[in-house]
Amino acid sequence: MSVNIAIDGPAGAGKSTIAKLLAKKMGFVYVDTGAMYRAMAYYFLTNQIDSNNQDQIESAAQSVDVTLKYEEGQQIVLLNGENINDKIRNEEVGNMASATSIYPKVRTKLVALQQKLAETTNVIMDGRDIGSVVLPNADVKFYLTASSTVRAKRRFDELSAKGIECDINQIEKDIIERDDRDMHRETSPLTICDDAVLVDSSYMTIEEVVDKMIQIINEKTNESYGC
Ligand code: DC
Repeated sequence: MSVNIAIDGPAGAGKSTIAKLLAKKMGFVYVDTGAMYRAMAYYFLTNQIDSNNQDQIESAAQSVDVTLKYEEGQQIVLLNGENINDKIRNEEVGNMASATSIYPKVRTKLVALQQKLAETTNVIMDGRDIGSVVLPNADVKFYLTASSTVRAKRRFDELSAKGIECDINQIEKDIIERDDRDMHRETSPLTICDDAVLVDSSYMTIEEVVDKMIQIINEKTNESYGC
């Protein structure tokens, strides 16, 4: 039986950074489910499909092929066989993913893929509905969050380091809007599961968060991962 760790939380809470480090320390596979929604979104954007057109989005979602493969521990997202890893990490794709992940047929297809992966592999999986829908029986569930101001500052620093000019207030506004949509959609909204451990990373370093989470995982699974 595989061991499954679920991490949910809002955009920019550090889920992927933390999940990647945890996976490396524990020898698990990191599954970034947001990248799968982003891959679909990238397809909709490049094919000029309107995010409000549910019929077109859902029918395109049926025909498009999203798969994950792993090379030296790194997740590669394939869209109809093409590696699109470097095309999906921008705000336009992130917002489109948030807008189109509200549709049930987009979700059903990706959830099935995620569940299949977790069945046979020890995974750290992050997203919005992992503990509630994808892996309701996960061995450990986390809800990782941080204040919107801290999340906006982190994003601002990240973009500035890349030389991209941006407005921190606009970033925070976008974050709040995205949270609101992800938390209030009808299908699989982002929620804090009753059995999830809440971790607020606002005033913690990455190392502190990782150490705390490994400690909780080891307590709950009676294992000694990462030691
Ligand atoms: O985690 P992320 O920012 O890469 O995710 C992009 C969008 O995809 C997010 O705003 C909502 C959607 N998403 C989702 O609905 N369910 C998931 N399990 C992961 C992401």
